Amino acid sequence: MSTRPFRFTPLALALSHVDADWLIVPVIRGKHVDPVIAELDVALGGDISRLIEQADFAGKQAELLPLHRPEGVRAKRVLLVGAGPYQQVTRASWHAAVATAVRTLTGRQWNKIAVAMPADVPLGVEALVLAVTGGVAQGSAGPGLRKKEAARFVPDEVILVSGPTSPALPQAAVARGTVEADCVTFARELVNLPPSDMFPESFAARAGACGKAVACEIWDEARLVAERMGAVLGVARGSTRPPRFVVLRYLNGGSSPTLALVGKGVTFDSGGLSLKTTEQMADMKCDMAGGAAVLATMKALAELKPEVNVVGYIPLVENMPGGRAMKLGDVLTARNGRTIEVLNTDAEGRLILADALAYAAEAKPGHIVDLATLTGACMVGLGTQIAGLMGNHPDWTERVRVAVARAGERAWPLPLDADFEEMIQSKVADFKNTPQTRYGGAIAAGKFLEQFVDGVPWVHLDIAGPAWADHDSPARDAGGTGAFVHTLIELALTYRVQ
Ligand code: BES
Ligand code: MN
Ligand code: ZN
Repeated sequence: MSTRPFRFTPLALALSHVDADWLIVPVIRGKHVDPVIAELDVALGGDISRLIEQADFAGKQAELLPLHRPEGVRAKRVLLVGAGPYQQVTRASWHAAVATAVRTLTGRQWNKIAVAMPADVPLGVEALVLAVTGGVAQGSAGPGLRKKEAARFVPDEVILVSGPTSPALPQAAVARGTVEADCVTFARELVNLPPSDMFPESFAARAGACGKAVACEIWDEARLVAERMGAVLGVARGSTRPPRFVVLRYLNGGSSPTLALVGKGVTFDSGGLSLKTTEQMADMKCDMAGGAAVLATMKALAELKPEVNVVGYIPLVENMPGGRAMKLGDVLTARNGRTIEVLNTDAEGRLILADALAYAAEAKPGHIVDLATLTGACMVGLGTQIAGLMGNHPDWTERVRVAVARAGERAWPLPLDADFEEMIQSKVADFKNTPQTRYGGAIAAGKFLEQFVDGVPWVHLDIAGPAWADHDSPARDAGGTGAFVHTLIELALTYRVQ
């Protein structure tokens, strides 16, 4: 990891006594006065209540007000940030408020940033800690990895300050939050690296450095041939970069069932012979974001060491229009023996996932989740912030949906009804990789993937929208977002078959 690791320190102390370059104070809107923040207000001679009374600060979600020379407190500067009305506070809203505040500061290197942890929020203290650590991480990293002068700086230390009479912050949540901060940042970095630096072999090399608790297997081309991964090999043929297949095994749950995580790893998607336009292609280094999320999660497990069994599968290819590229009308044979007619080489993600899902299913995991920047159609339907959620087993789909919500991320169900299967029927092979029509494209892709999971309870998250941010926003720099790393960690840590 080239971005430096985060350091979070819990501290039970009156806010007015905290020594920091900046003290970030989330303020809930309305009459609500938190005891931890009331102490700061008194020390400041009533400044906070006065600002609110005079309508200089209302506590609207992510509203900001810096106090540059606060008197009566030890911190050099105070930054008030609105946390919205009490009833509307969630892990996501708190995360966004903290991220927005932190992002206004991290254009330079700070030694100590403190964040106030109110006593009274409608979140469990664990979710509160994860919201803050996640928000700090989001606000501290950006896409400028190759700039002469860095554009974002991780603070040397971030102090989480609960008041002197609040119960101590749970150490386990702080430890988990620290790991999540590092791993989300790592996933963003993988996505943000230029595609000529982040290609199948170099991605696989990063996977090899997951730590001792994860057993890493990397298949080269010869192994892919021997293992009959015909769809991965088909997509890879157009590129001079050979494909790889990464299997990461974290087995610490004894005889309990295994959770399989499968992530699309197209390190660059030109479309192949069905070439994309410049505009469509410009950000296609993001097409390995699913794989990056899986790798980042496996890294997190290696550090957190929960008692679960999780195996990550990442098929890695570059989708290019070379002289040996697969052609329209070609038929590929996937790992499970099923044949696929290729009618559009730009529907490559579902091809490599077909092999990866079939291989994952052979090991008879309890459940599978795949993540893929799979279809533009999903973005047409759900926009850029919400992932499509599809599955073959309602209970498992619901459990994943709950994990997404608990993690403060966003996904919405799409129906994988049986009649969609017609869309992928081929005259010459078992399936075709693209339907005749654009309508229902995200579901058709999900339906295609379903053919390869052999009935194992499985969920597909189409993350084409949320994996990548086109523009800066107050809470986040443009580029890779690290989407669904929080969700996968939540899912893995709570994984038990019910
Ligand atoms: N990687 C793209 C999907 C994508 C689009 C991700 C925009 C992120 C932003 C995928 O491989 C693709 O090209 N899908 C095609 C499928 C079509 C040919 C059936 C699409 O969505 O156009
Ligand atoms: Mn494509
Ligand atoms: Zn793609």
